[in-house]
Amino acid sequence: MTTYNVAVMGGDGTGPEVVREAVKVLDAAAKRFNFKLVYTDYDLGGERYLRTGEVLPDSVLEELRKFPVILLGAIGHPGVKPGILEKGILLRTRFELEQYINLRPVKLYDERFCPLKDKRPEHIDFVVVRENNEGLYTGAGGFVFKGTPNEIALQESVNTRRGVERCLRYAFDLARKRRKNNKLTLSGKTNVLTFAFDLWERAFHEIGQKDYPDVTRDYAHVDATTMWFVKNPEWFDVIVTDNMFGDIITDLGAMLQGGMGIAAGGNINPKGTSMFEPIGGSAPKYTNQGVINPLAAICAGQMLLDFVGETKAAKAIEDAVIKVTREKLKSLAAGKMGYSTCQVGDLVAGTL
Ligand code: IPM
Ligand code: MN
Repeated sequence: MTTYNVAVMGGDGTGPEVVREAVKVLDAAAKRFNFKLVYTDYDLGGERYLRTGEVLPDSVLEELRKFPVILLGAIGHPGVKPGILEKGILLRTRFELEQYINLRPVKLYDERFCPLKDKRPEHIDFVVVRENNEGLYTGAGGFVFKGTPNEIALQESVNTRRGVERCLRYAFDLARKRRKNNKLTLSGKTNVLTFAFDLWERAFHEIGQKDYPDVTRDYAHVDATTMWFVKNPEWFDVIVTDNMFGDIITDLGAMLQGGMGIAAGGNINPKGTSMFEPIGGSAPKYTNQGVINPLAAICAGQMLLDFVGETKAAKAIEDAVIKVTREKLKSLAAGKMGYSTCQVGDLVAGTL
């Protein structure tokens, strides 16, 4: 029987609760499709930091490298200054494990939960491929004359040909694989970021012309992209963009599919350790109340299985999530689902 080793990082706030439900569903899928999942828990996050001062010990990072996949709950603790855990755990893992793709599907399962008028599941089904290792996130920059009236703060966007190219190629491949419209939209800001997005745009057309002539290339400025998300989301198939823009537009994307309660993503290293997570935060005010929606984490589990090659099991999880969403849930929002966190997990596992 095939066995997969999964590192589990519940993290902060409601992270551990939703991960528990994801594991429940993963186990149900493993049972039905005849494979085995072996979990190793890692205690990382705000509580550990406050207790020990440790964020992500090097030794833990080295252990994580040995896993094919990581399931992450959420990072972010109200008692810790913003940035310490996010950069120290989440971003460091994304960077050091070279998870250079942040894959964020935007798919509406039930029109009751879409905030857009007259948009139905057939209108909202696209994927954002967010570059995950470069851009404004790399931390290049600094202060000059800090704390004085002449202070200068620089935060530089890093865009390498190699980094941009591998991201674009992933997105082109995905556009082909999805067999929707065979279309890839580059979302950028070529009218203002005339260096960074010049590189992106040149690489986009060069690679597209040479290696993906069958994929239709489209371009939209990022501000216009947010407008089209609301006006004509059905135009999109695969969108590729840089790290910062991808961060921003995927929160909007999450709302189109019904909110943070259902939005999942994968931090992908196609040849290494990939990490899957619900894209919402740790929602500390809901911690341990049994009200948080675990579907995003469950969908992260679905993406994890798809990544390791258990595509049938992944599809079955998605089908179960759709069924439960459509037939049972009153809402996708915390505390309004009509069921507890654990009951939603049971419903999906039961449907499987
Ligand atoms: C996300 C989050 C992170 C990001 C934060 C927590 C660092 O917003 O995964 O989208 O900006 O990438
Ligand atoms: Mn974000």
